Amino acid sequence: MSDKKKILRLFHYGLFILTSRGNGQTEPAPYAASTVTWVSQASFEPPLIMIALRKESWANEAVRQSGIFTLNLVGKNKKEMAGKFFKEIRIVGKTINGFEFTLTEKGLPVFKDAPAYIECKTVDRSEKGDHSVIIAEVTDAKLFRDNDDLLLLRDTGWSYGG
Ligand SMILES: Cc1cc2nc3c(=O)[nH]c(=O)nc-3n(C[C@H](O)[C@H](O)[C@H](O)COP(=O)(O)O)c2cc1C
Repeated sequence: MSDKKKILRLFHYGLFILTSRGNGQTEPAPYAASTVTWVSQASFEPPLIMIALRKESWANEAVRQSGIFTLNLVGKNKKEMAGKFFKEIRIVGKTINGFEFTLTEKGLPVFKDAPAYIECKTVDRSEKGDHSVIIAEVTDAKLFRDNDDLLLLRDTGWSYGG
């Protein structure tokens, strides 16, 4: 493995389940839900974050269409849940891939198992690489359980980077 790859894989990341929706389209699904790790804060005032989304993913297309998304935090004991959102999703009733969700006022799914979530609106995007870098303002935040330890990429044995 090259030094570049090794070093970039030493960076620390959290794990989040991003949700979004298209503008009324139902294919491939009315919602997007996907596990992401390239997430960081980017400004105190206004409160901005940045995320990187694979150019051709449905999650990215949904965020392109609606301009809004949520990031659901993932508890340390919920690796199995995070592992269920790497592929195409299946929505049955009020569940996505078997996990119960409710809708925010803006109509985005948020998971009952998530200890917290933030809701964001895109303010800018850059398309220089194979991921789109999206800068977004945090427009809402709900903390349900503040003692929960969070799942970190390095605890999972998974890698995304290099
Ligand atoms: C450990 C791990 C971390 C990931 N992090 C990201 C990420 O930060 N951004 C991204 O676009 N995809 C990331 N992915 C890939 C997405 O989970 C996957 O491409 C996406 O869920 C595909 O679904 P979609 O096309 O329906 O959106 C990651 C995958 C793994 C295994």
